[in-house]
Amino acid sequence: MPSYPELSGRVVAVTGAAQGIGAVTARMFAGQHAHVALLDIDEAGMKQGADEIRTAGGRALAVRCDVTDEQSVAQAIAATVGEFGGLDVLVTSAGGYTRLATVEDMSVEEWDRTMTLNLRSVFLTCRAAIPHLKRSRAGRIINVASISGRTVFTASSPAYGASKAGVIQLTRFLAYQLGADNITANAIAPITTLTPRVVALRTEEDIERIASQVPLKRLATPEDHAQAMLYLASDAAAYINGVVLDINGGRVMM
Ligand SMILES: NC(=O)c1ccc[n+]([C@@H]2O[C@H](COP(=O)([O-])OP(=O)(O)OC[C@H]3O[C@@H](n4cnc5c(N)ncnc54)[C@H](O)[C@@H]3O)[C@@H](O)[C@H]2O)c1
Repeated sequence: MPSYPELSGRVVAVTGAAQGIGAVTARMFAGQHAHVALLDIDEAGMKQGADEIRTAGGRALAVRCDVTDEQSVAQAIAATVGEFGGLDVLVTSAGGYTRLATVEDMSVEEWDRTMTLNLRSVFLTCRAAIPHLKRSRAGRIINVASISGRTVFTASSPAYGASKAGVIQLTRFLAYQLGADNITANAIAPITTLTPRVVALRTEEDIERIASQVPLKRLATPEDHAQAMLYLASDAAAYINGVVLDINGGRVMM
């Protein structure tokens, strides 16, 4: 695994850190000796992740945070800064959807819920983090979008895809508006990744079919995405701003 010594001691807040891509990302930042705040609504999952990091000798804080709620987000970012003295990197991984849907069968309630979880949440979290990232020497925003926000390649959810396309465009605005403060904002766009949520959502045949269409002949792992996020947070990526990094094994090339 590559080593980024400059990440040692940097303060990293990861939303959705109790499970899946966020959990692995939190653990891998801690592996670089970053100080990690795990933000999630799943208190047991967060606590387990934070305990594992501490047992391995790292510094971690578990903060209950509902990313859809303005006050909860503000409190969680304040708690992170209170514990670690600042904030250098924000990773927004909380998100997802629970049903393969069509526009015709989607209720307004499902549309709003999906947009709120995936897009409003990123706005709220980034907005709360910005004043602190401005005080960092190397502020970084890394938003977790999706291949579903880039193109339509398999059954998914139109609300989810639209929300992730929104995350990508929000990221570009952040990159444009915060560059002068030495903050970069980038997004990653993962393909189907075998996290517990996805295993519950898709059949085995579905997973095999999607994997067979990927030039690399496998789905992504959370580690594939976490590696990319370590790089985007590192000094080596200091001039990368406003990009969408497609992490999809070459399934869709643009
Ligand atoms: N897994 C994939 O195939 C895949 C593909 C593309 C993009 N993504 C994106 O990657 C991110 C992580 O996906 P995953 O599959 O690891 O998800 P996951 O379901 O495994 O984990 C999501 C985490 O977010 C937390 N969460 C849910 N609602 C929350 C809320 N309101 N406030 C705070 N935390 C909340 C959950 O408790 C959970 O710990 C999501 O944004 C997802 O859209 C995932």
